[in-house]
Amino acid sequence: MKKTLVLIITLILCLGASAEDGHQLWLRYQQTHAQVNAPQGGEILNTACRELRNYWLGQAINLQLVSQNIVAPEGYAFDGKTLKASTESGLLYGAYALLREQTVRGTAKGIILKSTPKSKYRILNHWDNLDGSIERGYAGKSIFWNSPIKGEAYDTRLKEYARANASVGINGTVLDNVNASPKMLTHTYLDSVAHIANILRPYGLRVYLSVNFGTPKALGATNTADPLNKRVISWWNKKAKEIYKLIPDFGGFCVKANSEGQPGPFDYGRTHAQGANMLADALKPYGGLVFWRSFVYGSKHKGEDRVKQAVSEFADLDGTFRENVILQSKNGPLDFQPREPYAPIFDQMHRTTQAVELQITQEYLGHDKHLVYLAPMWQEFFSFVSVNRLKGVVGVANIGDHINWCGHPFAQSNWYAFGRLAWDASLNSKTIGEEWLIQTYTDKYQFVAPVLDMMLSSREACVDYMEPLGLHHIMAFDHHYGPEPDGFIASYPIEWCPVYYHKADAHGLGFERSSKGTNATAQYPEPYRSLYDNLATCPPEYLLWFHHVAWNYRMPSGRTMWQELNAHYNKGVKTVQNYENLWQQMKPYIDEARWQHTANLLHLQEQNAELWRNTCLKYFATFSKMPIE
Ligand code: GCU
Repeated sequence: MKKTLVLIITLILCLGASAEDGHQLWLRYQQTHAQVNAPQGGEILNTACRELRNYWLGQAINLQLVSQNIVAPEGYAFDGKTLKASTESGLLYGAYALLREQTVRGTAKGIILKSTPKSKYRILNHWDNLDGSIERGYAGKSIFWNSPIKGEAYDTRLKEYARANASVGINGTVLDNVNASPKMLTHTYLDSVAHIANILRPYGLRVYLSVNFGTPKALGATNTADPLNKRVISWWNKKAKEIYKLIPDFGGFCVKANSEGQPGPFDYGRTHAQGANMLADALKPYGGLVFWRSFVYGSKHKGEDRVKQAVSEFADLDGTFRENVILQSKNGPLDFQPREPYAPIFDQMHRTTQAVELQITQEYLGHDKHLVYLAPMWQEFFSFVSVNRLKGVVGVANIGDHINWCGHPFAQSNWYAFGRLAWDASLNSKTIGEEWLIQTYTDKYQFVAPVLDMMLSSREACVDYMEPLGLHHIMAFDHHYGPEPDGFIASYPIEWCPVYYHKADAHGLGFERSSKGTNATAQYPEPYRSLYDNLATCPPEYLLWFHHVAWNYRMPSGRTMWQELNAHYNKGVKTVQNYENLWQQMKPYIDEARWQHTANLLHLQEQNAELWRNTCLKYFATFSKMPIE
């Protein structure tokens, strides 16, 4: 009796979850039996054919492989009848583009398409640990490591994951945390990597691994990890050989070295270039890459303004990296804040291949609890750094084993938008958001128009209620959820303490990074250098990032800085209150489960926004001695 009851309850829960749980993401195609004419090909071409056969609602369609003079690798062209590409993955991306077009814009007027990716490497970074936990992951446990589901269920989920990535043009994935375990490169785990690679391959997705620079030493194979040591070099060469035997199309390594306690070449008096080049040489015979991260601080240039340290450490090394090394830098010079100026390292390395690292998981933007559509933030970055200068666009994934993959139903839009922008950074946030809404929910105008407006304003709202006017890193310690402007722990590195960043005092607020202060502005080229350096010309959104500003400083709006700060915090809260009200009116248009889930989260977000405003203004008022408005 008891067992039956448990079974019934489980069934109800499962049915409830699968009826509408967001598990299908934006891939909600109508089933059909289309006629597809295609040449013989490999497994990627088979995937393209299968998707079109199952879901293409238009006339019979031809797939054709053509020369690269006609269509660039991975790109596609469709003339209304024939889909052409020079690679199988091009046909796959073309197939998904057709399915997207048919859902979003319909087939009635005929579809004509032509597109090529703007950057070659479009990669997710999973900060997944081998024990299944995810650093800065909020949507459950890892889908790769230590999973409670095994066998077919495990494989099926990976297939769904690969399919979702392919549908937006993502072509690589790093399977483990940048704070990498040396165990990652042991036989047991490499066997699992090979298994995963086999599942992802038919979707054009290559696997990469984060590696711990100290691996040979940590595993006891050598007594040093010095990149110039012969035994160390030979260990990595052999390891590369072993990996490629298991995974012939393995993408390469991602490395966090000499940063936040990770081992690296400095431990042996060597440079980042010496470290990266040693690994690059090991991978070169097989075509592998090294993504070497520039997120370093507190090591060689300890004590220097943290936002300057990447340039200080890497600028002199420009031109000394091997061709298969890609320098991977976060979009801003600090650490994935709701708003940062772009990282000047992108302007300082002219002879080094570069990639940008964006954070899809919302470490500093309300985790999986706040609705924040990130495309406008990424677009802002690309307005400063042209994607033509980047070989890669990398995103720290927000995916876990949560039934809807990302936690917040709207967090899926950030995975989607990352892929679309990595493919073509000139696409705009509005188009991408609209595509996502129509595919994920409905094409009803009464829903799409207002909800799209909500998405598009949500990043600015988050900046307003968390860190307006260029404030940064005033989040609570470690978990980074919620405010802690008075945060200071004497035993912590000062760069982890919020008080270090806002520098509130009786005079004013903000970090003086102009030529009167740490001179971080000097790392920018003109016109930004002068623009940011001068208090009078510094854009208000970066004001307190670059300047320590008097509380009664007159802003372009005519208000004092204190009044402006109040206005932004109030606006942020008001905007989220409006979201909550708007969402109430959206109930008739979508399913109850996803509507309710979002309604609950918006309510929490509104409370959090108020907490942010109240905590920060109350704290800053103890310095400004001015009334809270
Ligand atoms: C942030 C984040 C860490 C992460 C680090 C990195 O500091 O809080 O969890 O390891 O970035 O990007 O390496």
